[in-house]
Amino acid sequence: MPVLKNCESLIQNINAALKNFSLYPRGHPYVSQPIDKSFKLIQSFLEESNEVLIAYLDGVIWVQNIPIPQEFLWDTVVKAFVKLKKESLTISKGLAQEEWVDFITVLASNITKDLRDEVLNYPHIIFGGIEKEAKKEAIEVYNEAKAVITRVIEEVRLGKIPKADDVKFVVNKMLDQVLKNKQTMLALTLIKSYDEYLFNHSVNVAILSLALGETLNLRPDLLKELGTAAMLHDIGKISIDPRVVLKPDKLTEEEWQEMKKHPVNGYEILKQMEGLSEVIYKVALEHHMKYDLTGYPEIAKDYKLHPASMILSICDCYDAMTTHRVYQRCYEPREALEFMSKMAGKNFEPNYLKAFIKMLGIYPQGTLVKLNTGETGIVTRPNPSSPDEPIIKVVYDVFGNKLEKIKTIDLSQHPVDEETNIPISIVGTVNPSWHDIDVAEYALAD
Ligand SMILES: [Fe+2]
Ligand SMILES: [Fe+2]
Repeated sequence: MPVLKNCESLIQNINAALKNFSLYPRGHPYVSQPIDKSFKLIQSFLEESNEVLIAYLDGVIWVQNIPIPQEFLWDTVVKAFVKLKKESLTISKGLAQEEWVDFITVLASNITKDLRDEVLNYPHIIFGGIEKEAKKEAIEVYNEAKAVITRVIEEVRLGKIPKADDVKFVVNKMLDQVLKNKQTMLALTLIKSYDEYLFNHSVNVAILSLALGETLNLRPDLLKELGTAAMLHDIGKISIDPRVVLKPDKLTEEEWQEMKKHPVNGYEILKQMEGLSEVIYKVALEHHMKYDLTGYPEIAKDYKLHPASMILSICDCYDAMTTHRVYQRCYEPREALEFMSKMAGKNFEPNYLKAFIKMLGIYPQGTLVKLNTGETGIVTRPNPSSPDEPIIKVVYDVFGNKLEKIKTIDLSQHPVDEETNIPISIVGTVNPSWHDIDVAEYALAD
């Protein structure tokens, strides 16, 4: 893995070469020196791996897997990606100096349509979209996390004390994906499962917690502890009679008392596991305690909740509310957020809740929306800079029939209705249980 300093230097030199080309001729040292330096750095990277990947994703430049901060310094590199409508540049072994000089020369020129074809036609320099690749990677991490928690829960069920290493390892990967690929990871939390509720729920709460923790600028070590705690927060349910945990009807008072034991049970199980810090079992113990210190288990009025517990309880509630279970109707994402916002200062820490709602947007991914055309669609990508203009996949026509060919519309591009010429907009949200629809499938489809 190259060091950050070299990655930064590579981008800095490419940026300088592209920029100086507009002021100096090809042979001028201000142009030739940064080209030479960048070529040498690429060669040194290619000694370690077969390819060098430079990407521009979600406003951040990446070299291999390393984010290069302060992208405003690399404005010319960013402009090139934007102009070419590409997200990644892969340089492979065998790159000759002439090819690199030529490539930079063409890239620095005013890219017209012809030149665009030219710049995309080098044998060792390939532009591409990494969205598909990134999505694949995110899905792999999600599945791995689900497999890990399934295994850990199974071991506890068998009376063993599992090791925490695998959980911690996969949480690192999840955090990496949340930092690189937040929207796709959040879309994955739309995967809900009735049969495997506990496993999906644990992974979903971990993703949401990592994303919220990151938004709140939590220290990286605490962020990882929060992710691990989220994966394990409901582990205490193992020691409760499955007939109570999975009961489709309302619980009796006695059953409810039994259910309320799961945070303490979890605390006891996690305390025995090797390699977990105190924060993690504290979070399991506190995840049903409310901000106003009601909830369970009962605690003294001067008790101090850990911030990680207050973050987790927001994500826990949101995932549970938006999942359909026999005894509970499923809230659509926006409705759940509206419901939860009424509990600010009571159940939830108000600032964390505000940040959570802002993070998911006014139309969170997976929200079913009614358009002024009468059609119904699914929000597949929120738009943080203009929250009421997300990207939508239109799935149902005016009469509620499933469209044969699904249309994708980006409201930020101000599309108009073909027949009336009226700009298309969202007029309301729809409960997904009205349609038999798997929102995750649409949100994650290409
Ligand atoms: Fe719980
Ligand atoms: Fe939970």
